Amino acid sequence: MHKDIQKILFSKKDIENIVNSIAKQIEKDYNGKDFIMVGLLKGSVAFMTDIMKRVNLDFAIDFIAASSYGSATESSGRVNIQKDISQSIEGKDILIIEDIIDSGNTLDFITKYLAVKKAKSVRICTLFNKPDRRKTEIPVDYVGAVIPDVFVVGYGLDYDEKYRNLPYVGILKPSVYS
Ligand code: IMP
Ligand code: MG
Repeated sequence: MHKDIQKILFSKKDIENIVNSIAKQIEKDYNGKDFIMVGLLKGSVAFMTDIMKRVNLDFAIDFIAASSYGSATESSGRVNIQKDISQSIEGKDILIIEDIIDSGNTLDFITKYLAVKKAKSVRICTLFNKPDRRKTEIPVDYVGAVIPDVFVVGYGLDYDEKYRNLPYVGILKPSVYS
């Protein structure tokens, strides 16, 4: 275990089980649809690459990079698009892949943004959900796991751009950021 990790919450195997179960639901719900899986960079990369390989359907993939300014562990609510989607989404069913939903500000902004671009539908798939921290209510369609108000890293999730490569998800020692 990495020295900055206090406790492992989800092992590699736990994550595999979550991914398989969500992929099955997506496969069932999106069968016959013309859809695009859109990962939010950079936190979703590990989850996105695993989930896309387990959904046995024809679909396109794309990425959006959005940033919300604020302190390192809390978002401000102002969201900015740094890298836009690279194809037309008009009339397409969009499935957003996110690492974690915290305040909900990022996804509230992104879902409205995709609706303006005339997506046929927009659904949200997140690996983790922290409902206790929600500031903006958003409908979440697929959730890997609900977690309490703790700061987690690994499997794509970072603190200050570090720890994304850990194959498990753990609670970061508060001494690292306080
Ligand atoms: P929201 O707009 O507050 O919902 O912010 C969601 C984003 O905040 C996620 O995509 C993450 O990048 C980041 N985030 C929120 N909680 C955590 C955490 O526990 N660990 C790592 N990143 C987090
Ligand atoms: Mg993120």
